[in-house]
Formats: sequence, structure tokens, C-alpha cells
Amino acid sequence: TDYNTILVERRDAVTLVTLNRPQALNALNSEVLADLLAAFAAFDADPSQRCAVLTGSEKAFAAGADIKEMQHQGFADMYGHDFFAGWDQFTRTRKPIIAAVSGFALGGGCELAMMCDFILAADTAKFGQPEIKLAVAPGMGGSQRLTRAVGKAKAMEMCLTSRMMGAEEAERAGLVSRIVPAADLVEEALKTAATIASMAPLAILANKEMVNAAFETSLAQGVQFERRLFHGLFGSADQKEGMAAFVEKRPGSWTGK
Ligand code: HXC
Repeated sequence: TDYNTILVERRDAVTLVTLNRPQALNALNSEVLADLLAAFAAFDADPSQRCAVLTGSEKAFAAGADIKEMQHQGFADMYGHDFFAGWDQFTRTRKPIIAAVSGFALGGGCELAMMCDFILAADTAKFGQPEIKLAVAPGMGGSQRLTRAVGKAKAMEMCLTSRMMGAEEAERAGLVSRIVPAADLVEEALKTAATIASMAPLAILANKEMVNAAFETSLAQGVQFERRLFHGLFGSADQKEGMAAFVEKRPGSWTGK
């Protein structure tokens, strides 16, 4: 399938999605949203695909929601159409998505990276929520996900002042899992995705689902949810295979059943 604003490539069981609006530093307009939703729905539905990487360009992962598209919208347009609600579907992707961030991840770009399952940062990455400079505020989850990721002090300062956070600070604060040299970012993300893709498919889904539950539940409910999913995996053929393979000192071979 062809998209106008993104490139989609497959490397074995890994889907690489590259934001491709260089003339606007990958600003996220309605067409980018539609393209991403279609691409990730196809990825989720394709049994041959197990993990995805979402990246941008060297200069910008994405410089935000498209300001030129929003500029003339009024309250009735935004609220009436529940502008940005479409992004919720992106977060319902069941298979893992790694954000590989180089350069600017600002506003909606930072929010999109945080909607992914984890962020690998190039040493050039810069994260920020500068919406306040436009007299607005985050609208794709930034005030919530950034606060959960880095805590109130940094999130509040970033939202109120628009200060950007570099890769090292982002790693210290827990926003990103690792920093890699910019030149190696995509290859490293693909390698990490291939590692994930080599795991048993049901276990991949369950691990993602239970970590995400930590953001939606109390500790007791989350622990219960984890344990039930853990129990459920013992109904899979791959659990028998995985444990037999360990005992027999050989690699496991998965059926996804
Ligand atoms: C539309 C954008 C854009 C954006 C950049 N461009 N960001 N277009 N929406 N978010 C366009 C520019 O207009 C310009 O187009 C081209 O991309 C290159 O950008 P420059 O500004 O010339 O590049 P540079 O000088 O290198 O500066 C890079 C930058 C700056 C610091 C990232 O572009 C910037 O500040 N962008 C906006 C960042 C921002 O405020 N993001 C939050 C958006 S609001 P032309 O045609 O002039 O060449 C948001 C959430 C909204 O994301 C939620 C509330 C509703």
C-alpha cells in the first residue's frame, strides 16, 4: 500500500514506519494520522509482523501537530469533531511499537513518541511541549504521559516554559530507555525490534498489555491482572515449547498458539 506521508518497509517480522513530510519537519496533520492509523492497523492484523519501529528524519522525529492546519480552527471545530481523538486508536495497537527519536520531538511529536511502547533516543534528540508558546497546551496526551514518565517537576517546567530536554536528561528522567549515536539509531532500533520479534507472539502481547496496565490500575488490580495473564499463558503451546527448549538447552520455536 502507498501512503503520502509515511514510508513503510518490512524486514522479516519487523515493520519500519518512517514519517516522511520533510518540508514540514514531519508535522502531524490529518493525513499523517490517517496514514499512521492505516499502517498500524495493517501491522497489527498481519500475523507475519511482530514488532514495529516508528522513526522520523535525522533532524526531526516530528516538530508537532501541524500548526498551519490548526491555525484557523475554532472551538466548535475542535470540540465538535473531537480533534486528536483519532490518536487513541494508535495507542490501541496490540503489538509493540518502538519510537526511534532523532532531533526534534516537540508538541505532538513528543506526544506521539510517548504513545509508543518505549523510546530509543539518538544523542541529538530534543523533547519538548512548547504549545504554551502558541497560547495553547498539549492536546495528544502530553500533559499526562510526560508527567507519568518524568514526574511533576520536569513535566510542569517543560509545559509552562517550553524548555526542551536533551537526550541525556531524558534518559536520566526515565523518558527514554537508551541513548544511541544518531548514525546508529534506526539500525539499533531495528535490532531491538528483531529481538522482540523473536519472542513467542502471545507472550509479546501479554508483556505489553500488562506493563501498560500499570498506568491504568491500582497496584493490587495491576498485580492481579498480571497474574491472570501469566496464568493464561500456560494455556499456550508456546509455553510448553519455551520451557521444554530451556530444559533441553536449545532455542524455542514458536507457533503463536
Ligand atoms: C507546521 C511546521 C511545524 C509544525 C515546523 N514546521 N514545525 N509546520 N506545524 N508544528 C514547518 C515550518 O513552518 C517550516 O515551513 C518548516 O517546517 C521548517 O521549519 P523551520 O521552523 O524553518 O525550521 P528550524 O528553523 O530549523 O526550526 C525547527 C523548530 C521549529 C525549532 C522545530 O520549526 C519549531 O519551533 N516548530 C514548531 C514547534 C512547535 O511549536 N510544536 C508544537 C506544535 S502544537 P516553511 O514552509 O516555512 O519552510 C502541538 C500540539 C498541539 O504539537 C496541541 C494543542 C492543540
